[in-house]
Amino acid sequence: AVQILDEPEYRYRGMHLDVGRHFFSTDFIKKYIDIIALHNLNTFHWHLTDDQGWRIEIKKYPKLTEIGSKRKESLLNDGPGKFDGKPYGGFYTQEEVKDIIEYAAERYITVIPEIDLPGHINSALAAYPDLGCTGGPYEVATTYGVHKEVLCVGNEQSLRFAKDVLSEIIELFSSHYIHVGGDECPRDRWQQCPKCQALIHNNGWKDTKEHKAEDKLQSYFMTEVERFVNSKGRQIIGWDEILEGDVSKTAIVMSWRGKTGGIKGAKRGNEVVMVPNDYAYFDYYQSKDVDKEPFSIGGFVDVAKVYSLNPTEGLTAEEGKKIIGVQANLWAEYITTFSHAQYMLLPRMAALAEVAWTPQEAREYSNFLNRAKLLTQRYEALGYNFAKHILQ
Ligand code: ACM
Ligand code: ZN
Repeated sequence: AVQILDEPEYRYRGMHLDVGRHFFSTDFIKKYIDIIALHNLNTFHWHLTDDQGWRIEIKKYPKLTEIGSKRKESLLNDGPGKFDGKPYGGFYTQEEVKDIIEYAAERYITVIPEIDLPGHINSALAAYPDLGCTGGPYEVATTYGVHKEVLCVGNEQSLRFAKDVLSEIIELFSSHYIHVGGDECPRDRWQQCPKCQALIHNNGWKDTKEHKAEDKLQSYFMTEVERFVNSKGRQIIGWDEILEGDVSKTAIVMSWRGKTGGIKGAKRGNEVVMVPNDYAYFDYYQSKDVDKEPFSIGGFVDVAKVYSLNPTEGLTAEEGKKIIGVQANLWAEYITTFSHAQYMLLPRMAALAEVAWTPQEAREYSNFLNRAKLLTQRYEALGYNFAKHILQ
């Protein structure tokens, strides 16, 4: 009786989850995927490794999970500074990962794995200290933020490690895109490391007006990683720091430090996923009345702000074609339960879904708001814990 013509504005419509800072069960992950499916998003970006935990079995490097998936204690969730004194850990076996990928595929969702390189990697260094500039000893991190211990790029074992890990990842995951991180990698250790300095010297890399010689270590490493991933028929995604250096045009830029990196990437010809923190970080507070909210990392992104994201702002129509999609991130420093995760996702995810599906000129916040209020009745029926600010 009726024919419906509909298509999404963007082909990449993503939701991320950090399982490094806190580990979530496979049952949680499936329920998370259900929520992604309910909102007609098509990509689950699974942030599987970080300083505070390595969460995926890698058969060639068993210590990554034997040692790297465990930390001695965690920060308490009610504010910075105090620890709980309890060992914490968890990881997914490759069999469990296969099951999750299948579950997601049945719901038309692609799972993109992220192995964060060459920073945010204390968990791997704790397991394999030779991969760090100083040789350690290292511990799986218990504090958050940016850690100075990173992979030693001057040690060729590091690149072999990255390729070995990515080989197993590529074998396991069928996604065309493989996320290789690239964010927040301080150069401190590289500046002091004889191996890293030798690599700089042997390649004749010098400081320029734009880049330090050490920046070349990162772009060299990420370029080698990309070449490897491409040789397996896949494409890399990296956080916008990959633009610091001359990254190839085939790398997908994930713009998180606002839209700036994405705009720069699109203008130089890279494809871009927009995940600007000031619109799409769902770990941020969704109310200014922070005393009434669960403790969060900071920031402020309410539903209206998410809805106001114009992914192609600042670009010509031609450049705008380089924006392949949008995503929101859920970093989990302060999130330990499914109920809390739901509260951070809903209903902000509905606003993200509409940014992903509806052309900019067809979007109107008050119209959305009426429909979003109806959607919250579904959340009620499904038993989801959602934020109620839009109802007030
Ligand atoms: C990031 O938030 N460090 C990508
Ligand atoms: Zn080094």
